Amino acid sequence: MNDNQQPKLNKPGLILWASRTGRTLQVCQTVEQVLTEAGIAVEMISAAEYQEDPRDRPFLITASPTYGVGDLHPLWDRLEREWRQWDFKGLPAAALGCGSSRYPVPCGAVEILETRLRNQGAKILLPALKVDTLTGLDLTLAEAWAHKFIQALGIL
Ligand SMILES: Cc1cc2nc3c(=O)[nH]c(=O)nc-3n(C[C@H](O)[C@H](O)[C@H](O)COP(=O)(O)O)c2cc1C
Repeated sequence: MNDNQQPKLNKPGLILWASRTGRTLQVCQTVEQVLTEAGIAVEMISAAEYQEDPRDRPFLITASPTYGVGDLHPLWDRLEREWRQWDFKGLPAAALGCGSSRYPVPCGAVEILETRLRNQGAKILLPALKVDTLTGLDLTLAEAWAHKFIQALGIL
């Protein structure tokens, strides 16, 4: 087993996020709250500001709403490009984000993030959370997903 397959407990888990109108941010804050209440240290950082190496974290959650035609929030573009050269082997990870089913590619950005994580060798812990905000934002979906995330972390 190499270094990046070992659980890393010295730093908090990471939620990297972008959001234009605040919905994906609220979903991330809900996930953060559930994890924190369960005693799991977690830190939320804007994808635009993040310059570090996520491989020294115990887990990585990536979050983007979908804009354009099934695209990432533009503040994700730099990291998503940089990560194409990286090996995330074994890094526990998951993706989430808001979108709307009125568009032809619902939550396409979440799939882009999940595919990037998977292609770089991350261990996808559970199916991505795609929150359809067509009729409003249901944060109970985020709570339920966060509990499943905790379960998946526990069985690593
Ligand atoms: C110009 C525009 C394009 C959008 N394109 C998509 C899309 O392709 N797929 C999708 O699922 N949602 C699309 N959406 C909907 C947003 O993703 C949705 O409103 C989401 O809740 C925004 O999240 P945020 O508050 O985190 O920015 C689009 C919204 C706008 C304004």
